[in-house]
Amino acid sequence: MPNNQNMAKTVSESAVEMRYLVMPNHTNPQNSIFGGVVMSWIDMAAAMVTERHSNRPVVTVHVDGINFKAPIKIGDHVLIKASLNYVGKTSMLVGVKVLAENPFTGITRHTTTAYLVFVALDDIGKPIDVRRLIPESDEEKRRFEEGRARIEAMKKKKK
Ligand SMILES: CC(C)(COP(=O)(O)OP(=O)(O)OC[C@H]1O[C@@H](n2cnc3c(N)ncnc32)[C@H](O)[C@@H]1OP(=O)(O)O)[C@@H](O)C(=O)NCCC(=O)NCCS
Repeated sequence: MPNNQNMAKTVSESAVEMRYLVMPNHTNPQNSIFGGVVMSWIDMAAAMVTERHSNRPVVTVHVDGINFKAPIKIGDHVLIKASLNYVGKTSMLVGVKVLAENPFTGITRHTTTAYLVFVALDDIGKPIDVRRLIPESDEEKRRFEEGRARIEAMKKKKK
């Protein structure tokens, strides 16, 4: 179903940044953050990016990899940076980068990377076409091409 959204948007128009303070209720018995908490923050940030781009309700259809590179400790400040890498017909690929900052040393570490695919839905819950994405910077253009290849690989795997 067409969405009548002809106006393309830039990556920065839908990008989202969220910050959290890691509290005891976020942690596992090792006083590191529980992975499921990070995953829910990632999913929420990515959902907001795709809602902002499509101006439609969205659902997660696929998580294309999530890598926990380093632990996040209690008391750390967590920065979730999410932005669109690529847009298909009805699907949107979001790249999410998670950084943890120790507020007492100021040292920031890149802890997690994830890629998620969302689909925008029409009023009866069917996929709806989304507007085009305009990658502007060299990095956005690189991510766009990598995103296209990632989506093609996903489609092959799904078949
Ligand atoms: C989202 C949903 C309506 C899509 O229905 P569908 O019949 O799979 O629709 P399509 O096959 O037409 O796929 C729609 C788009 O999603 C993409 N897609 C579907 N499954 C995918 C997967 N596993 N990985 C990557 N992309 C996928 C398709 O490639 C297509 O992209 P395009 O239109 O940009 O080319 C349906 O899958 C659904 O309801 N899923 C459950 C969502 C949910 O509950 N999520 C968890 C809570 S938010």
